[in-house]
Amino acid sequence: MHDLWVYCNGGYCRWQDASLSPLERGFLYGDGLFETLRTYAGRPALLGLHVERLRGSARFLDIPLPAEIDKCGDIIRGLLARNSLEDAYVRITMSRGAGQWGLLPSGTFRPSVLVITRPLKPYPAELYERGATIKPLEWRRDVSDPLPRHKTTSYLGNLLARRQCGKPPLSDEAIILNSKGNVCECSTSNLFAVTAGHVVTPPLEDNLLPGVTRRIVLSLCSDEGIPARQESLSLEDIVRADEVFLTNALMEMLPVGRIIGHTDTPRAFPLPGGVTRKLQQLYAEAVRASRSPEAEAQ
Ligand SMILES: Cc1ncc(COP(=O)(O)O)c(C=O)c1O
Repeated sequence: MHDLWVYCNGGYCRWQDASLSPLERGFLYGDGLFETLRTYAGRPALLGLHVERLRGSARFLDIPLPAEIDKCGDIIRGLLARNSLEDAYVRITMSRGAGQWGLLPSGTFRPSVLVITRPLKPYPAELYERGATIKPLEWRRDVSDPLPRHKTTSYLGNLLARRQCGKPPLSDEAIILNSKGNVCECSTSNLFAVTAGHVVTPPLEDNLLPGVTRRIVLSLCSDEGIPARQESLSLEDIVRADEVFLTNALMEMLPVGRIIGHTDTPRAFPLPGGVTRKLQQLYAEAVRASRSPEAEAQ
């Protein structure tokens, strides 16, 4: 890993030579944003949508956008070539950077950008066969908290949620509920339920990350005539659903096999679910071919 090339603040360097300032606000305060995505055969998938989310969050948080963000496609391709990678995990991290000391940023800052590519370690095939086990989290997310809609480097809430899965984990993902009792998402993924052939995912107003994969799944449903809507879901709704699946850029679409922790009796879903399987195939084709027109904006 230490021999890998990374891109750090304006240039390529070896992993162990990358350095950031002691005044780096991403480190001091979590004052930064990140994106994770993957490449398929040397092509960064859905990069335009990931950068669009980063841009929107930077605007919201008033973090000046570094110029390199417009060149992310070239930077990633440069790293893939240097690291001899085709199917890779990519992480783009940017922060407000280093500047004057103090909680509220004042004066000028030079934003930091760090891009890492490393060999993809896919979720185990066995997990897709047995389906993920998911479990409701003990605490609720405030529906008015603005941060969950942004992929900030303050990721401790997600980390704590994931830790609730146990050690060794009893579940693969934690279900996050909001202060109204509606399902938001899981610790590192968006959630979908399928009932009587209808695909439902919680609306952004329930306070969740606007996942890029979620957006593609919704647009595939619309293209393929699969009825889909964004509507609040209770825990009971997902327990009673015919199929449940999770999405993120690395897992793509992961079927849920069991929901535990809501009553004494876990709910087991028969796998594979037909709608999930159909969407898995459509998604795999779309990202590999980057067929989606909105996907290849970079
Ligand atoms: C909390 C949370 N929700 C949803 C997602 C899915 O987002 P995307 O599809 O853009 O990977 C992630 C991805 O890391 C996440 O951390």
